[in-house]
Amino acid sequence: MTDAQTAAERIAQLRSELDAHNYRYYVLDEPSVPDAEYDRLFRELQALEEAHPELVTPESPTQRVGGNAASAFGEVRHEVPMLSLGNAFEEQDLLDFDRRVREGLADLLPAGDLFGGGAEVEYSCEPKLDGLAVSLLYENGRLVRGATRGDGTTGEDISANVRTVRNIPLRLQGEGWPEVLEVRGEVYMSRAGFEALNARAVETGGKTFANPRNAAAGSLRQLDAKITASRPLEFCAYGVGRVDGELPDTQIEMLEALKRWGVPISRELKLVKGAAECRAYYQDIGERRDSLAYEIDGVVFKVNRIEFQRELGFRAREPRWAIAHKFPAREELTELLDVEFQVGRTGAVTPVARLKPVQVAGVTVSNATLHNMDEVARLGLMIGDTVIIRRAGDVIPQVMQVVTERRPADARPVQVPTVCPVCGSQVERTQLVKRGKGKESVSEGAIYRCVGRLFCQAQLKQSIIHFVSRRAMDIDGLGDKIVEQLVDKGLAKSPADLYTLAYEQVVELEGFADLSTRNLLASIADSRRPSLARFIYALGIPDVGEETAKLLARALGSLERIMKALPEVLTYLPDVGQEVAYEIHNFFGDEHNCKVIAELLERGIELQEEGDVAAEFAACATLPGFIDKLNIPGIAATGAKKLAESAGDLEAIIALSQDWLTLATLKGLNEKARQSLRDFFSVADQAQRARDVEAQLREFGMHWQSQRKVVEGLPLAGQTWVLTGTLEAMSRDVAKDKLESLGAKVAGSVSAKTHCVVAGPGAGSKLAKATELDVRVMDEEGLLALLAEHGLDA
Ligand code: IVH
Repeated sequence: MTDAQTAAERIAQLRSELDAHNYRYYVLDEPSVPDAEYDRLFRELQALEEAHPELVTPESPTQRVGGNAASAFGEVRHEVPMLSLGNAFEEQDLLDFDRRVREGLADLLPAGDLFGGGAEVEYSCEPKLDGLAVSLLYENGRLVRGATRGDGTTGEDISANVRTVRNIPLRLQGEGWPEVLEVRGEVYMSRAGFEALNARAVETGGKTFANPRNAAAGSLRQLDAKITASRPLEFCAYGVGRVDGELPDTQIEMLEALKRWGVPISRELKLVKGAAECRAYYQDIGERRDSLAYEIDGVVFKVNRIEFQRELGFRAREPRWAIAHKFPAREELTELLDVEFQVGRTGAVTPVARLKPVQVAGVTVSNATLHNMDEVARLGLMIGDTVIIRRAGDVIPQVMQVVTERRPADARPVQVPTVCPVCGSQVERTQLVKRGKGKESVSEGAIYRCVGRLFCQAQLKQSIIHFVSRRAMDIDGLGDKIVEQLVDKGLAKSPADLYTLAYEQVVELEGFADLSTRNLLASIADSRRPSLARFIYALGIPDVGEETAKLLARALGSLERIMKALPEVLTYLPDVGQEVAYEIHNFFGDEHNCKVIAELLERGIELQEEGDVAAEFAACATLPGFIDKLNIPGIAATGAKKLAESAGDLEAIIALSQDWLTLATLKGLNEKARQSLRDFFSVADQAQRARDVEAQLREFGMHWQSQRKVVEGLPLAGQTWVLTGTLEAMSRDVAKDKLESLGAKVAGSVSAKTHCVVAGPGAGSKLAKATELDVRVMDEEGLLALLAEHGLDA
C-alpha cells in the first residue's frame, strides 16, 4: 500500500468519526467524546489534509472556515417557492384555522360526531424560531447549495456561508435519503451566542447587534464567509422543498427522517390532536419561552399528513395547512419623553429613559435602562425620539433602537447634568487608565460620577443598603425604607453611625414600636463580629464583589495589610487585574473612607478570621515575576527571567541597569531592551516604586528570599497531606487553606511520600491506598485537634 493510500483511508476514517461525533453533539445533544478528544481527531485530519491537499473534499469537517470573500451573492431561483405563514394572534384565530382545515378535509376525514364536529386533525407542532429562513440543497447526500429565502421565488446564494454553520451537515448520514433533497429551516443565534458575540464586540470596539435575529441575519449574509464562520450560528430544519425521491408521509416522520440523516430539528417537536391540544402546546411553550436557549416569537402548527397538506394547498403565499400562533410581541414603539439621571452606590450617574407608557407583552412599561452615556451615543438617542423598546421575561426593559425617520423637529440631545441631581456636587467623567509596559494612557470612560460620595444622600443610602445586606454585614430587619428614613433624618451619615443608634432615635421612626426597636438594635449589635471577608465586601469597594473580597481576606489575612497593599502586590491575587488593584488601592487611599473604617472599628466592630498571609499566596511571588510586574517596556517574561538569573535581587538589577558594560554582555536582552531597562531605572521615582513594592513583599512575608524561611518555620513544613471524603466542620477548601497556612503541601493523591491522610465519611480509594502504604490516617476530629493546637479553629 502506498503512503497516499493509507493517508486516504485514515482521512476517510477520521471524517466519519468526526461526522458521527458532530451528529451526536448537534443533533442528538448527547456528546460522545470530550472536547479534547474531538480536537485531537480534528487536528490529525487537518495535518493529513495539509500533507495531502489533493485529498481535501468540500465535505470534510475541516472545510467550515469560509474561503475567499465574494464581491456579491449569486441568485438562486427556488423551484418550489419559499412561502410564509398566516398568523394567529388570538385563540379564536386558531379555532378558525382548525375549522377551515376540517372543512377543507371533509371528504377525507372520517365522519364527524352527532354534534356536527368533524373528526379531529393531527398537527405537528414546533416553536417558531426568530431567525432567517434558508434552503439547503443536498444532491446524493452532499450539501451543494445554500440560499436565503429572498422574495420567496428568488434568493441569494449563500453556499459558502451555510457551510460554516457548525450543525449543518456537509453530507447526510445513514441511508435512504432522496437523491435530491432540499431541506428548509431557520438559521438563528442562541441567546448565549448572541450575548457572547456582543460582549466581544464591546471589548474590541466593534458593532453590537440589537437582538439575536439581527445578529443572525447580519452574520449569515456576509460576503466574507470567514466572518460567518466566527459567529455562533445554528440551524434547525422545519420542512423540505424540492425532493426527488421518497419521504415518509407525515410531517413528523419526515422531520424524524431528517434527524436520522444528521439534520438538526427542534427538540420541542410534538404531535397533537385537535385545536385544544394545539392550545395546550402553545401555553406550555409560552410558559417556557424565557428558559429556552433561543428566542421564539410563537409556535407553528402544521397538518401532519402530507396527503392532507396537498389536498388543502395554498392561498396566495400561505399554506392552508399551517399557521403561526404568535406570542405577544416583546418589542413595541413608544416615545422617549425624557432622560433622567440616577445616582448609584459608587456615585455612577446613569441615564434612565422615561417613556410614554406602552403595553409590552402584557406589562405596562414606562421606564427603560440606558446603561451609560456610551449607550446613549451608540443609539444616537434624542429626547422626543420614537424608540423601539424590548422587554424579555423579567429583565428590565431596554431601548433597542431609534426610529430616526420619526424624529420630531424639536428633539433635544441628552445631556449629562454637570452637578449631581441629588446632592449638587460636581459630576465628573471617569477616566480609563490603561497601564501598559512603561506607559499609562488615559482616556475618557463611559461613566460619570458624582464626587459627593457619602455626602450625597443617594450614594449614602445605597452604601448603607449594601453594607447591611445579607451577604455583607447581614443586619436583619434593616430594610431599604428604614435606611432611607435614617438618612433623611440625619441619623446615619455613614455606615458607622448605625452602631451608635439609640433606642429613642429608632423608636421615633415610622413603623417602629418598642419590640421592633429592640429587635433592630439587637441585630445591629449581633453584626459586630463579621468575618474579614464580609467586612471587606460590605465596604462596597468598586469592582470588589463577594469573591474578590473573600480572596483578599484569605490571601492577605488582615485589614491592615489589605488597606496598605500596593496595586502591584494586589495583582498577585488570581483574577485581580490592574484595574481592580488600583480601585482597591485608591479606595483605601481615600481619607474619608479611612475615617469611616476607623469609626467602625472604634464603635466596636471586631473582625474575625484575621491571620497571616496565606502560604500559597506568599509562595507565588518570584523574582522574575516581580520584574515582569514592574512593566518595564521591552522586558517580557523571558527578559525578566534572564535578569533574575544574572542579577539575583532588585538592588543588583538596578545597579546592573546603570552598568552599561556588564549589561552589554548579558545574553537574551537586545539593545533596545537594555536601553529601556537603563531608562526605566534612571527615573528616581520608578526605582523607588520598585523598592517599595519589594519592601512590601518582604513585610508581608511574600518575598522570594523570605518565603522559604516562612515555610520552614511552620509546624507542617515539608509535609504532604491528602484530604478525602466529606468534612463536616469545614469545606475541603478551607481545610486545605488551613493546612497550607501551617506549611503543609496538600496533594490530590496518596503516595508513599504522603505524610498524613485526613479521611472523612465516604472516603474510598485514597483511604485504601493509605492503609496499603501504611500512611498515617486521621479523621476530622483529629484534624480539628491539630488545627486547634496551632491556634486555628474550624
Ligand atoms: S414553516 C410553508 N416552521 O417563519 C411553511 N417556519 O412566517 C413555511 N419560521 O419564513 C414555513 N420557525 O423563516 C416554519 N417551525 C417553523 C418556523 C418557521 C420559523 C419562519 C420561517 C418562515 C417564517 C414564516
